[in-house]
Amino acid sequence: MKTPICDFVNTYNNKSPIRLHMPGHKGKACLGTEGLDITEIMGADSLYEANGIIKQSEDNASSIFGSAATLYSTEGSSLCIRAMLELSRGYALSKGQKPFILAGRNAHKVFTLTAGLLDFDVEWLRSQKCSYLSCNITADDVEKKLCSLERKPTALYLTTPDYLGNIIDLKSISEVCAKYGVLLLVDNAHGAYLKFLSPSLHPIDLGADLCCDSAHKTLPALTGGAYLHISKNCESYFVQNAKEAMALFGSTSPSYLILQSLDKLNLYLSNGYKEKLSTFILRLNNLKSRLALKGFTLIGNEPLKLTISTKPFGYLGTDFAKLLENRNIICEFCDPDYITFMLTLENTKAEVEALEKALLSVPKKESICGFSPNAVVSKAATSIKKALFGPKEEIAVNLALGRILASANVGCPPAVPIISAGEIITEEAIKAFEYYGIKKVKVLVLKDK
Ligand SMILES: Cc1ncc(COP(=O)(O)O)c(C=O)c1O
Repeated sequence: MKTPICDFVNTYNNKSPIRLHMPGHKGKACLGTEGLDITEIMGADSLYEANGIIKQSEDNASSIFGSAATLYSTEGSSLCIRAMLELSRGYALSKGQKPFILAGRNAHKVFTLTAGLLDFDVEWLRSQKCSYLSCNITADDVEKKLCSLERKPTALYLTTPDYLGNIIDLKSISEVCAKYGVLLLVDNAHGAYLKFLSPSLHPIDLGADLCCDSAHKTLPALTGGAYLHISKNCESYFVQNAKEAMALFGSTSPSYLILQSLDKLNLYLSNGYKEKLSTFILRLNNLKSRLALKGFTLIGNEPLKLTISTKPFGYLGTDFAKLLENRNIICEFCDPDYITFMLTLENTKAEVEALEKALLSVPKKESICGFSPNAVVSKAATSIKKALFGPKEEIAVNLALGRILASANVGCPPAVPIISAGEIITEEAIKAFEYYGIKKVKVLVLKDK
């Protein structure tokens, strides 16, 4: 596997040219990485009109992921999510439809912000078992919802894996989408590595039309490195318009450090990564089994996440996180109920052993009763667009009853929103805010004020 971006930048840097172009650091030290931090100079291609080294590198990534096209993002999955929505908006218009999307309720706030910006009609999809922490949507949930809608949505938008490590059955959901002629868009920010399982659990292999992966979350890319993948099953419209959709939201100064990181990742992934991943997962599965035997309650089915429901063990997730922090072990996420660790192949055997030792050193205490509040269905009073872009004010949660939320969402970060933009704040929502320590909310200004 070739690394055209890295090769170009290294050759350029080794020539020690007089840099009379951006960036202003001129390749000279401050951090030490400036030499390799260039911009779109001659020969370096251009991210949103790629036809040189970036295009070659993206084609390498596309062949690894088995997509019709894979586009690099140096601004995370956030940028790819915006592009997915813009592509769906344009596609809907090309079919004479008003953009309408059915979205799993556990959508990241970038989804809601962009849906507002692009003025999508959004219908939220919850599962039977939707809580504030996970939203395990099934094919049955999707089919029932699609049957009940008067208007067919352009797309179904799902987030899987979720933050706590739950993966939903995309294969059967994609079959339902195909049956109803609805596009399937997947926020796979947490699942780039799923491509390398045997068999692959990557959304593109399971029937998604478009998906984003944060290469920086579960693969060793620099923060911000992400992919937008387009399936070979998609109409040509998507590949033809994808770069423009990315450019609509992206910076005109993409980071070449991140591009090099994505470029080098192709080499890394094609050099035995799959085999190493399978050994690593076996080690983690063994660790999970030992923890379960010691009385830990584990949740989720994502191989590289370890999530413990801490209350049965006698601790709040937040207190458990502090105990581990004292041992220099930093978790990805904690809240009153859970603690989540994200592991990758870059975590050494010694680090995994240190985690196990630390977990096993925590004495079991009497279980703490009480779980996170049940998710309630809130009613929309206005569109997401009107809520996000109307006049707003910030008020204390205890004064918010009956008011309309004017920010993307309020949630126990970063799982299922308690309430989303344009919805009315209910008594149950206020109780949930209090449970998660949320003290202030942004609401629309009252009309007669
Ligand atoms: C589920 C989910 N989707 C999307 C994003 C945004 O990804 P990125 O940080 O790569 O922009 C995040 C970020 O944490 C996320 O958790």
